[in-house]
Amino acid sequence: MNIQIINGPNLNLLGVREKSIYGDSSFETYLTELQKHFAGVNISYYQSNVEGEIINKLHEVGFSADGIVLNAGAYTHTSIAIADAIAAITTPVIEVHISNVHKREAFRHKSMIAASCKGVIAGFGMHSYRLAIESYLL
Ligand code: DQA
Repeated sequence: MNIQIINGPNLNLLGVREKSIYGDSSFETYLTELQKHFAGVNISYYQSNVEGEIINKLHEVGFSADGIVLNAGAYTHTSIAIADAIAAITTPVIEVHISNVHKREAFRHKSMIAASCKGVIAGFGMHSYRLAIESYLL
């Protein structure tokens, strides 16, 4: 099973950025835990702050990976282009968020990409990624 995690803008700063919301672990540290937890799953990781690069990655892996776990960061709330890319590929995409976006500012309540995704997981801290991967194993 091949799972691709894609993190969008500002998620390279996890562990540094707004720790009271996003926690104090870097994604790289959490990824090591995830890879240990899902020993039989091949988990690849990609991060970009650039919308077009996220789209290119979706195109690159979106016809071969078994699952894509996407935290599009703030692009979640704005990007029709990412929504179109998710709709264009065949690999099912799960939208994830570390924070519970519905408890936060109103502009975070709307997702442009959710309707193109298989499902949405939000609010479980870094474990949102683990729950998303778990769902591909059901
Ligand atoms: C986020 C929530 C978004 O609203 C925000 O812009 C992020 C992170 C989350 O994981 O909770 O960058 O996607």
